[in-house]
Amino acid sequence: MQLIQWLDADELGHYAIDREHRDVVEALNVAIKAFNDRKSEACVTAIESAVDATRRHFSHEEAVLLDFGYRGDDFEDHAAYHGRLLLEAEKIAALCKKDHRREFLEARLAELIHFVVNEIRSYDRKLVRHLSDTKITA
Ligand SMILES: [Fe+2]
Ligand SMILES: [Fe+2]
Repeated sequence: MQLIQWLDADELGHYAIDREHRDVVEALNVAIKAFNDRKSEACVTAIESAVDATRRHFSHEEAVLLDFGYRGDDFEDHAAYHGRLLLEAEKIAALCKKDHRREFLEARLAELIHFVVNEIRSYDRKLVRHLSDTKITA
């Protein structure tokens, strides 16, 4: 499987959120490397780490959005999207823990990558105008 490349275009302009996105991508890349090295146990552990990093990130991103005054249906939709994505990610981690067959693991990991990359490159992109006024450096 190909590693996920972090692109300049992936930066939203908010230091903490960008750093968390990079952390999640890095955790997924650890899982991909382990998969490519045929280390199933390490791959499953890395998937769990990626899901944990995603959970922490969603909760923090929602707090940041509220701090920036993001409210109403747009906020609720985004938070609900996080909830659905996290549920799927947790299911994927649980399934991978039970079943280490290569084809199965590859398909589940590809799903997880799709969800996370979609969050960063598509869904969160809509937040830029709410976050880009202020570059937080801590
Ligand atoms: Fe995000
Ligand atoms: Fe998000």
